Amino acid sequence: MIEFKAFHALSYGVYLVCSEYEGKKSGYVANTGFQVTSNPSVLAISCSKKNYSCDIISKRGVFSLSVLRRDLPVSLIQDFGFRSSRDFDKFSNYSHKTGQLGVPVVTDCAVAFFECNVLNSVDCGSHILFFGEVAHSEKLSAEPVLTYDYYHEHYKMLSPENAPTFIPPELLSVSRKELISPSELASEYICILCGYTYNPELGEPENGIPPGTPFDALPEDYICPICRASKEYFREI
Ligand SMILES: Cc1cc2nc3c(=O)[nH]c(=O)nc-3n(C[C@H](O)[C@H](O)[C@H](O)COP(=O)(O)O)c2cc1C
Repeated sequence: MIEFKAFHALSYGVYLVCSEYEGKKSGYVANTGFQVTSNPSVLAISCSKKNYSCDIISKRGVFSLSVLRRDLPVSLIQDFGFRSSRDFDKFSNYSHKTGQLGVPVVTDCAVAFFECNVLNSVDCGSHILFFGEVAHSEKLSAEPVLTYDYYHEHYKMLSPENAPTFIPPELLSVSRKELISPSELASEYICILCGYTYNPELGEPENGIPPGTPFDALPEDYICPICRASKEYFREI
């Protein structure tokens, strides 16, 4: 028997794994990154076959892993964790350099980084487990690192009462709801970054957005409760 709740007891860090092949850079947010051995120094990462990065790392045989600091701009997670390097340049807004092994190393928001040569890999079905021998590493700062727990608690957090995006329920007046046409409530909107769907009939009561709030009536600083993308990333379904 597999009790799925048991998996929630596992803890992780949060990293950026980058590579480059024939001039095409790739990078993704990863919670799966860990040290396998110290001599030789080997790290392992588990990369989805659906990630563009998987193809790039397989072909190049090299990856870098940046350990992220705890306080970082949410856009970094959105860009590297919810978009694909296939059709988006993830690197232009963030400090990075070409490392000693010739692949990008993101130094923005990083407390340390490692550059690894892939020793071998294991096909685990949906993911490839890459083992990389560390050829070079640097500690950049003493700031606290981002853990997966912290990420869930603080970065995926829905708007709390003291956040500027919180809308007090009393400001979303019932009288406005009464002015809404049924067609406005019929349209659902999907976040193209993470796939979250906003349903006007349901609203987001936990965020102070009552049922019956059409997408257009959401405040301009509304953000996706899952990946925190702004309204412009939503499309009508
Ligand atoms: C917090 C977080 C942790 C993630 N961990 C992993 C991971 O360990 N392995 C993985 O393959 N994808 C992971 N992802 C998903 C990738 O970052 C995501 O699919 C990314 O868009 C892939 O980019 P690419 O197509 O440019 O490679 C994670 C995403 C987030 C937000």
